[in-house]
Amino acid sequence: MKKALFILLGSLSIGACTHINDDGTLPGIDDNGGGGGGGGSTDCDPNTVYFVNTIQPLLQSSCAQPGCHDAATMEDGVGMYDYNVIMEQVSAGNPGGSDLWEAITEDNPENIMPPVGEGTLSPEEISLITTWIQQGAQNNSCTSDCDQNVFTFAAAIQPTIQTYCQGCHSGTNPDGQVSLTNYTQIKAIADDGRLMQTLLGSGGYTQMPYQSNPLSDCRIQQIQSWIDAGGLNN
Ligand code: HEC
Repeated sequence: MKKALFILLGSLSIGACTHINDDGTLPGIDDNGGGGGGGGSTDCDPNTVYFVNTIQPLLQSSCAQPGCHDAATMEDGVGMYDYNVIMEQVSAGNPGGSDLWEAITEDNPENIMPPVGEGTLSPEEISLITTWIQQGAQNNSCTSDCDQNVFTFAAAIQPTIQTYCQGCHSGTNPDGQVSLTNYTQIKAIADDGRLMQTLLGSGGYTQMPYQSNPLSDCRIQQIQSWIDAGGLNN
């Protein structure tokens, strides 16, 4: 997207890992999708950050892109595609002693992760990861984090896209040449049909999120309802 070029002006470094699409390998994620819940799921506690619901999709989208920290590439020997490999970079309860936390809070722009221009983590996202580590970096999940009757852009659509899609679909070289960082961009792929088609893997499109679990039925329903109601910026 043209807009992304402006970000490039501020950063001449494209980052260590380039996006290699269609490598044909699966990262081997076997967790439940967000909100899916498996054995041991509980109702969502607003003060707890859950791995399966929040951290896993965030790291998948921001770090485990093809050509970076996916199972096929393991850039620098680091994987961000499932709980066990992620824990090799995490010291439970101790953010400052965790290589993952150091990498995302690094002062030196040459070392920060994700690389400059590849979709920076927001302060809120860094804070979620910090809290999850402080709370013991558990492989936890909760149910009922999604209400299918709530489908405004601000309350449902934007947060879903941010967690599950933006890591790959932002920055100077977004995957599929599709940037999904604001309402206009998201509305455009809703209008041309690609949003629902990629979520469902229909119409010959590769299912999204790429090489990961599909979104939960509830999140897909929210997006469909938002589109049916006119795809407003509400
Ligand atoms: C791990 C990285 C990754 C994540 C996360 C991801 N995508 Fe993608 N996306 C890709 C790649 C790679 C392509 C190009 C794939 C292809 O053409 O087969 C792509 C292509 C697309 C396209 C263009 C399809 C086309 O052929 O025109 C759309 C639309 C899209 N993604 C939407 C989404 C949505 C919506 C989400 C979140 C629910 C998402 N993506 C999450 C990597 C990702």
